[in-house]
Amino acid sequence: MGTYAVTGSASGMGAQVAERLRGEGHRVIGVDRADADVVADLSTPGGRQLAVDEVLSRCDGVLDGAVLAAGLGPKRGAERTIVEVNVLGVTDLLTGWRPALAAADKAKVVVFGSNSTTSTPLVPRRAVRQLLRGDTEGAARVIRRRRQLAPPVAYAASKLAVSQWCRRHAVAAEWAGEGIRVNLLAPGPVLTPLLRSQLSSSTGKQVRSFPVPAREYGTPEQIADWVAVMLSPAADFMVGSVITVDGGTEALLRPGDW
Ligand code: NAI
Repeated sequence: MGTYAVTGSASGMGAQVAERLRGEGHRVIGVDRADADVVADLSTPGGRQLAVDEVLSRCDGVLDGAVLAAGLGPKRGAERTIVEVNVLGVTDLLTGWRPALAAADKAKVVVFGSNSTTSTPLVPRRAVRQLLRGDTEGAARVIRRRRQLAPPVAYAASKLAVSQWCRRHAVAAEWAGEGIRVNLLAPGPVLTPLLRSQLSSSTGKQVRSFPVPAREYGTPEQIADWVAVMLSPAADFMVGSVITVDGGTEALLRPGDW
């Protein structure tokens, strides 16, 4: 049985993944703003450092895997917080946990991206580059220039940046070369508290009009099943891949991109 760190363990897909891993007999160190083994606010540098330190001390220096599911959806006026949590809440934690992942035998990392990376128009590439440099303030400033579109653009920019960071690092000697497998899961709309709050907000109509060929939303259980595969030996030969599970939106919008 292994030891796994799971961020966003108090709700939605992170909670489902944590429950599943615990049900299989693994040890889970959950990280979230409340109701978690490690209570930490990933929108602040201090909170991220606390999450790094606490998990390292609780896992005795060895992590068999990590699932980075903590995240914030689009929200007006929260552009800076969204990018802090969705980008640095992944990259700072993984950087800090890397030695413990390298100490395990073929550790697996699953990071939650999103199909918004390929379905959101007008995401400023400059903001993505700034996020990759860790400049969340500069990126938020550029994103706010999109005015009405700033919330979805902040979200998509954060997921683009975190996906690019993961793919670049996944193949590096310090990661793939140390036996660590970093991969991304890119869900479409999955019925969790995050999606429910979007559906009941002023942008609910827009969210509902998002085309999903499967004509239904995904469930946290389905996504946890995919995470389980990505944490298993089936992923030993999987490095820097993005697994899209979105009811067909990506195929509908970009049929010619393969
Ligand atoms: P959720 O809202 O149910 O769970 C997210 C968790 O992240 C919550 O427990 C929340 O407390 C935690 N979190 C947020 N801000 C935090 C902070 N500052 N510090 C610590 N923890 C914090 O969301 P859901 O839907 O389960 O999302 C999981 C991941 O999947 C997120 O990264 C989200 O962006 C991504 N995603 C979700 C989709 C959906 O339709 N639900 C679609 C595509 C991607």
